[in-house]
Amino acid sequence: MARKPDIFDEIILYLKENQNADFSLSDETRKELFSTPSPKPAVTPQNIPVSAPAAPAPAPVSSAIPAAPAAAPVPAAIPQSAPPPAAVRPFADVAHMDWDTLKQTAMQCAGCELCKTRNSVVFGEGPRDARLMFIGEGPGADEDAQGRPFVGRAGELLTRMITAMGFNRATEVYIANIVKCRPPGNRNPLPEEANLCKQYLLRQIELVNPKAIVLLGAVPLFYLYNLKGVTKLRGQWLDWNGIPVMPTLHPAFLLRDPRQKAPVWQDLQQVMKIFGKTPPPPRKA
Ligand code: URA
Repeated sequence: MARKPDIFDEIILYLKENQNADFSLSDETRKELFSTPSPKPAVTPQNIPVSAPAAPAPAPVSSAIPAAPAAAPVPAAIPQSAPPPAAVRPFADVAHMDWDTLKQTAMQCAGCELCKTRNSVVFGEGPRDARLMFIGEGPGADEDAQGRPFVGRAGELLTRMITAMGFNRATEVYIANIVKCRPPGNRNPLPEEANLCKQYLLRQIELVNPKAIVLLGAVPLFYLYNLKGVTKLRGQWLDWNGIPVMPTLHPAFLLRDPRQKAPVWQDLQQVMKIFGKTPPPPRKA
């Protein structure tokens, strides 16, 4: 059954229909939305083309999760079926690893029980110098199968949220989770799993060093800040070593309660302002 358009579809449609408005969209987002890198100059009597090209038809609103840009190669493929070491690995060195070592270590991690049931380690994806970072809970079944974060239904919604914000998911944002392996049955990660695994994430945050971070749902709020009550705390800026952090609701929650999309859009608009992006007005009230 076709999905009903939501506030994020409306914003994306508005952006598509107002190509020449100044929403401070990046070239990547312009390409995604209009298939053209910059707004067309206004046609004046002086520059009118001899045979004016037909206006490009707006591209359909895409619900596909864009493929991540080619990731830097991980040195020597590590078989994920390698037997886990008996003892939990010491994580002391994670805090100083360079990106490749960090990824290589995470991809063969056997630090907790989740390594026994996972199909993939979902390290995270996006450019290493992304200006905006999203942090979720942990991989679900789709992510575990594909080895990429947020590729299921919640991921499709997150991708539209990112596009509505005027960012290109594949080239402009980094997406990671508190845990990199799927908790069986999509349960929340246990404290010992989250506290161990988040050390990879803390190093990822340090290395990406984004200009802003969005926390998706209760799990990252709890494991990064020891705070409970995301429904009360959403929309209120936090700080992570000088980086502004916006907690908001998890897209999976929005799928269950679509009325929460409007307040989440308020939170995301606050984040857009950090990047000098003007939030477009929604088409409908
Ligand atoms: N939910 C999450 O929190 N993370 C994912 O990667 C997918 C779904």
